[in-house]
Amino acid sequence: MSKIRILPETLTNKIAAGEVVQRPASVVKELMENSIDAEARTITVIIKNGGKSLIQVVDDGNGMDRDDLLLAFERYATSKIKDENDLSRISTLGFRGEALASIASVSIVDAVSGVKGDMEAYELKIVGGEFKDIRPHSNIGGTSISIRNLFFNVPARRKFLKSAEIELKNIIDIFRKFALAYPEKSFVLIHNDREIYNLRPSDLADRIAELYSPEYRKNIVEVLGEERELSISGFIGNLNLIRSRRGEQTFFVNRRYVSNRTLSNAVISAYRSVISGDEYPFYCLNLMIPPDKVDVNVHPAKMEVKFREDYRVFQFVKISIGKYVEEVKKSIPGFDKPRIWEYYETKRGSGRFAEEKDGERKVTAEIARLKLEDADNRSQVWKERAKKFSEHLKEESSVPPGVGIPVFQFAERYIITQVKSGLVIIDQHVAHERILYEAALKAVTQGSWKPQQLLFPQVIELSAEDFSVLLEILPYLNKIGFRMREFGRNTIVVDAVPAGMRWGRESTIIKEIIDTYVEYRKHESSAVKSVAASYACKAAIKAGDKLTEEEMINLVDRLFTTSNPYFCPHGRPIIVNLSLDEIDKRFKRK
Ligand SMILES: Nc1ncnc2c1ncn2[C@@H]1O[C@H](COP(=O)(O)OP(=O)(O)OP(=O)(O)O)[C@@H](O)[C@H]1O
Ligand SMILES: [Mg+2]
Repeated sequence: MSKIRILPETLTNKIAAGEVVQRPASVVKELMENSIDAEARTITVIIKNGGKSLIQVVDDGNGMDRDDLLLAFERYATSKIKDENDLSRISTLGFRGEALASIASVSIVDAVSGVKGDMEAYELKIVGGEFKDIRPHSNIGGTSISIRNLFFNVPARRKFLKSAEIELKNIIDIFRKFALAYPEKSFVLIHNDREIYNLRPSDLADRIAELYSPEYRKNIVEVLGEERELSISGFIGNLNLIRSRRGEQTFFVNRRYVSNRTLSNAVISAYRSVISGDEYPFYCLNLMIPPDKVDVNVHPAKMEVKFREDYRVFQFVKISIGKYVEEVKKSIPGFDKPRIWEYYETKRGSGRFAEEKDGERKVTAEIARLKLEDADNRSQVWKERAKKFSEHLKEESSVPPGVGIPVFQFAERYIITQVKSGLVIIDQHVAHERILYEAALKAVTQGSWKPQQLLFPQVIELSAEDFSVLLEILPYLNKIGFRMREFGRNTIVVDAVPAGMRWGRESTIIKEIIDTYVEYRKHESSAVKSVAASYACKAAIKAGDKLTEEEMINLVDRLFTTSNPYFCPHGRPIIVNLSLDEIDKRFKRK
């Protein structure tokens, strides 16, 4: 008796499904790819319960007749390639004839398809890879495929599905990629009967504005490049769209979304002169390359590609984008981003020493002057805000400001003061972060913080993605003292912020809290702690903020009422001690 046996096809399909179908979002991806390959102009994605109960994709594409519908769910059944030659020049999104068979083996399928002009369409039912029924159906002029109860017959996989919110977030990510790759098509996304997107045909700039936020429109630069058979097109963001986390970088190759280091490194190196290591620019780009110069058959989910001439592609992208980054550098940034403040501050700083350094060219000087004027106007407002802030600090503090302790601010980021045993140097940002972190934790767990009404409620537009993150953390933000209401699609109004929070940066702070929260959530399992830490990090005074003596004393006093004045929530030291002993030793007194 032989020990080795050939596995039955239902089992091999299930095994293959392990590679192709990771989660509901993978199903959405495969079905949307098929709709696009079928030249659909409108694609509707209907989701229930994060895709765990239902994933349905409806299109108005070419459709299938009865025979094709039956074949479509067979393994290695494809209309897209015929022979080995075709495999080396793939121009469709699908090519393996594997997706539907894999999906069908681990779900309950209900597929309806009809070819345009035909009288009849057919409806096919498959359960766990087993054919159940095919019968005539009225023609819907395209295809509708419903996938129910994904992994119902693979409990181990089903168990590993995440919450509906997280699965939905992954689906939204994938959906948005297609919407960006094909702006000329209509896309609709409905979750639990709520419409999340309803995108009409448009051009890429409008699509970007619709998917991210209208303000992106004025902050993106169109890119076009060509070199022999390579071409690149799309948009890159100016300095206003620099974010502190990844997520707004999209690259397509022949309109297929890919994750490819050659391409992302090329863009980042083109941006190198304007961003630092932990900053990420916005981009949405498509590289067109002859299909025989790129291998798309290198990844089970078709998410990666390999270029035949990797270095050439890198150079081409870097140089093409580099030209526009020069453009981006010249862009006069808006005022609502903190980064821009740093930018003005350095401009201002360098202005002071302009005579000593070599003079800037006339034009640059003129632009700098204009920016300075604006910055000065703004700084008046800031001074007032700073005053208000220090008043709040005073009101809040239970400890009366110390009298007679010498405090001193150094390099606009350290507070130096004397203690019995020597000198302490305190990092003002992390000190404040620690104070706010503990206060926020307390507010969330023990009782609410006092909100402070804004004179002018702020309207903030968010991307759909950020909006869903915000919904997730809203209850905590409420406790901390934010008051927000929904105001149209993906838009909120902020009525109040936590008492003591600095004014004037509400929209930035909220966006930054969302960014930071997304980052923290990866390492920190407690949502409360993540929210508290994000809030503390973003609302705290920064290096570069000038503090009055009173503010410094107040900060020091409050720091020493916290449970751990020595380390910030991420473990960075807050205080450096220079003992009298050590100082004496340095002066060779001991
Ligand atoms: N929405 C659709 N409209 C028309 N035909 C479709 C649709 N979905 C699938 N098909 C047909 O069914 C076949 C099988 O689809 P399937 O996704 O399993 O394989 P594929 O797209 O050829 O390759 P891959 O496994 O790489 O996705 C396709 O080649 C296509 O002919
Ligand atoms: Mg396919």
